[in-house]
Order: sequence, then C-alpha cells, then structure tokens
Amino acid sequence: MGSRRPGDLLFLVKASAPGKIILFGEHAVVYGRPALAVPVNQVQVDVEVLNSSAQGVWIHAPIIDLHAELSTLPPDHPIGSVILKVLSSPFLPPSPSGRGAGGEDGIEIRISSTIPVASGLGSGAAVSVAIICALSSFLNRPLTNEQINELVFETEKLHHGTPSGIDNTVITYNMPVYYIKGKPIETFKPGKPFTIVIGDTGIPAPTKESVGDVRRLWLRDTNRFETLFNEVAQISTMARHFIETGRPELLGELMDHNHELLQQMTVSSPELDALVHAARKAGALGAKLSGGGRGGNMIALVEQARAESVAQALQSAGAKRTIITEIK
Ligand code: MEV
Repeated sequence: MGSRRPGDLLFLVKASAPGKIILFGEHAVVYGRPALAVPVNQVQVDVEVLNSSAQGVWIHAPIIDLHAELSTLPPDHPIGSVILKVLSSPFLPPSPSGRGAGGEDGIEIRISSTIPVASGLGSGAAVSVAIICALSSFLNRPLTNEQINELVFETEKLHHGTPSGIDNTVITYNMPVYYIKGKPIETFKPGKPFTIVIGDTGIPAPTKESVGDVRRLWLRDTNRFETLFNEVAQISTMARHFIETGRPELLGELMDHNHELLQQMTVSSPELDALVHAARKAGALGAKLSGGGRGGNMIALVEQARAESVAQALQSAGAKRTIITEIK
C-alpha cells in the first residue's frame, strides 16, 4: 500500500468538494419543479491521489473503514464505481504522462470527509466530485465542470434511484443554483447576504428511501401530489425573487410553508419537527427540513445576531451538531 522506494518521484494531487443544503424545493424537484440549493463550505470531502509502488488502485477511506484494492470491491460499490467511471470515461483519453492504473506504478486514493453521511448535506455527491476532480487531474486530464457533473449524475443514478441532479450540480459548480431537472443550469446571486443555521438530528436517513416512498405515494395519489409539487414550485420561484432582490427576511414564511408541504409528503419526522419548532421559538424567521428528510438536517433562517442563540436552542432540543452559514 504505497510502500515507496527511496528516490521514487511522487505525484500528489488534491481536490475537495463542499457539502450542500437545499433551501427550497426538495422532492418536488424530482418531478420537474424548480429548487434552490447552495454549497456549504464549512464541511467538505478531501481527496488525495498519489502514485504508489504497490500495483493496482488502493483506496483508503478511514471514515467508513475502507482500505481496499479497487478490483476487490463489488462493481456497484459507491466509491469503486466512481473510480471505474473515471478510469473508463470517454472524456478521458490515455494520459501522455504515463501515469495511470495500468502501468508500473499503482495509485493510492485517500478520502477524508467532515460531511455526515445520509444527512441531507450531499456527502455522496461530494465524495464523487472530489474523487473525479483529483483522479482526472492526477491522470493529467482535468475534466470540465460539465463533464464532472455528468459523471457524478450517472453515479447518483446508480445509487439513488431517480435523483433530480440538484446535489451533483450545486456541489460540482460550488455556487448557489436554481435548478430545474433537464434544463440548463442557472446560478443566482443574493442581493443581500443572509444567515442560515443548520441543525442535524443525527439520524441517518438515506435519500433513496424517502424519494422511493414519495414516488409510491405519488403513483397512488397523483393529483394530490402534483398539487403539492405545484405549491412548492411557486415557493421556489418566489424565494429566488426575494433572494435576488435583497429581501431575504421574506424567506422565513416561505420556509415554514415549504416545511408544511414536506410534512404532507410524509418526509418529515418527529425529530425534524422538534428542531424546526425549537428554531422558530428561539426567534428564527422560518425553518424547514432540508434534503431527503425523515432524519438528517433542518435549516433555519435567522438574523445574524441571533444565529448563536438559535444554534444553542437547537442543541438543547436534541441537535447533534449545528452549523452557521452565510449565504452570499
Ligand atoms: C436530496 O438532496 C434532494 C431530493 O429532492 C432528491 C433529489 O433531488 O434527487 C430529496
């Protein structure tokens, strides 16, 4: 595993990718409605790729206790499949540098992360983005954001069923996005910065499950769910307008309404509701779950001066951790 001989040349490439939150529109976005998402740079995935004298592609991800050679992983392994995608990507012709998986040298890929897994903060997409950036640069063939986004979306489809593509997009571009599935990417710029407190229930909740459940309910009661999604679409459209015109204080009410609609979609949980309630009680202007729901994270809009006290109220109400982030 990377036992280097004295005098070997060391090539080392690093890349990182941020977490994300959905401000408005989760779940409805899977059904073609607009949603707003922003990167969260307080948490991130870091990937280092280096050459190694051991043959093969060695992966070390201590956070998930993974230390393995690529060929020993099952083909659908989330990390293994991303690496295979890069190595076989049509975007990536053989490198003139000779660095690669097939030559004398092996490759070592080290992954570390501060993004909690299955929490709605986009950890899966961030791992994929960081691996693809680092590995393609290591192979001397850096990819464009568009190519990275496409490869990550393919991986998301493998592991999350029917993703909208919003997670890979906001994380790849590392910018606020107004996202409609299948449409050209639109970014947005807040007319005035605003502060969000993120509260983690600490309950892991795979997005695939909540997305699958919503799909079953939508199939059973299509009219009702289409109406819910249309209401969410109006909220996302209004929210973008308030953000861009520098009136973020008007987002609070929209967050509360979006949370109610998510409750009706059955993707909230008692723990999420308790944190949303605690945030509002502590003076947040509005609050909602963020991401797939059922567990994971919620977000609260706050005046900057109140951010610490809302974060403390969330911790007293059971949040396992909180993050204060400025959207600008
Ligand atoms: C997950 O961050 C957001 C969902 O809308 C799923 C998706 O858009 O793929 C729940």
